[in-house]
Amino acid sequence: MQKEPVLLNLALVHHLVGQGALRQAAAYFSGYKKIFILVDENTEKICLPVFLRYLPEVDVTGYVRIISGESNKNIQTASSIWQQLTLFHAERDSLLVNLGGGVITDIGGFAAATFKRGMNFINVPTTLLGQIDAAIGSKTGVDFNEYKNQIGLFAHPKAVVIDPVFLATLDQKQIRSGYAEMLKYALIMDIPLLKLMGLQHLREINGNIGAMTIKAVSDKISIVEKDMHESGLRKLLNFGHTVGHALETFFLKTEHPVTHGEAIAAGMICATMISAGWPGFECHSPEQIYQTIDRDFTRLKFAGSDIPEIMRLMQQDKKTKENKLHFTLLYKLGEAVPDIIVPEEKVRESLHFYLRNQ
Ligand SMILES: NC(=O)c1ccc[n+]([C@@H]2O[C@H](COP(=O)([O-])OP(=O)(O)OC[C@H]3O[C@@H](n4cnc5c(N)ncnc54)[C@H](O)[C@@H]3O)[C@@H](O)[C@H]2O)c1
Repeated sequence: MQKEPVLLNLALVHHLVGQGALRQAAAYFSGYKKIFILVDENTEKICLPVFLRYLPEVDVTGYVRIISGESNKNIQTASSIWQQLTLFHAERDSLLVNLGGGVITDIGGFAAATFKRGMNFINVPTTLLGQIDAAIGSKTGVDFNEYKNQIGLFAHPKAVVIDPVFLATLDQKQIRSGYAEMLKYALIMDIPLLKLMGLQHLREINGNIGAMTIKAVSDKISIVEKDMHESGLRKLLNFGHTVGHALETFFLKTEHPVTHGEAIAAGMICATMISAGWPGFECHSPEQIYQTIDRDFTRLKFAGSDIPEIMRLMQQDKKTKENKLHFTLLYKLGEAVPDIIVPEEKVRESLHFYLRNQ
């Protein structure tokens, strides 16, 4: 068994990952004149006491508060962060600690990177999705109008501290959301992780979550370090996301929004179906993948008549170029190919397949 926490580097940024990470992170928070912590109402109540208990030496100047939820990941909330930082007289050499899930690390990174042309920030992700994905890789941003992550920039945090201690209070829906992204790494590049995951039902994974998180974090880092600005290889991480993002946006407008991971799980079923029929590919046993996903994710409920709207949303996604839909597809289990143009008709077919075969 690996000794935790482990130290991984991405673009010279330290990522301290695993049990005990928080306790050993004090040095990252020293040397700043002012330190602010960005929280939402949940992380303020649940995660902040844990943070302060493990890091009593962090000298906090003030708390920057926002309301949780994807629907608040917008420019108005970013503006409220800038406003609060201004009232606190924050400077470029101050530090913003982003304590929360992917919404907090995305918007906090964005607000910090643009405040006075860039102040320091550290990500302390508190959801599984944040820990294995959102907080890593320097993508920051907000949604704009109805489109996800439309405004943003690449900005490096000073450090990322990933400690499973926060996961104890996460509800099953949020654990499942991160689990989908973990499954994505396993399917596109990490068969040992797939085996580790496959051996356990989602309900039983908590015991092993530390080891699986470290594997998933190193998978993401290993890809991003070769292609920070997503000109090629990083697009591998988009597996399940072309359809997934459109579904996430679609459900955001309904009374039953779905988590990022639930949408990506559905997107991975569609992308697998397309991969299985792709000429020259060896994705021969897609049923095994459908079963693995269906074991932990209930199929999303939309109707055939919603498909035109979902296709329209897909056209607006950043992955669509010159009206062509770009997909990452599975060449075979554990190996994916990015940036494949898939005809619209095939994508529509995959959505019908998703609805039909449940
Ligand atoms: N930048 C990237 O590379 C990247 C990658 C993937 C996803 N994302 C973004 O991440 C976001 C989704 O992140 P998320 O799934 O973490 O959702 P989230 O940030 O909305 O958090 C989910 C909920 O859990 C609560 N919460 C957070 N930590 C908790 C804890 N320890 N215990 C109890 N409750 C807790 C939050 O307050 C929130 O209500 C999306 O906006 C997505 O676009 C970004």
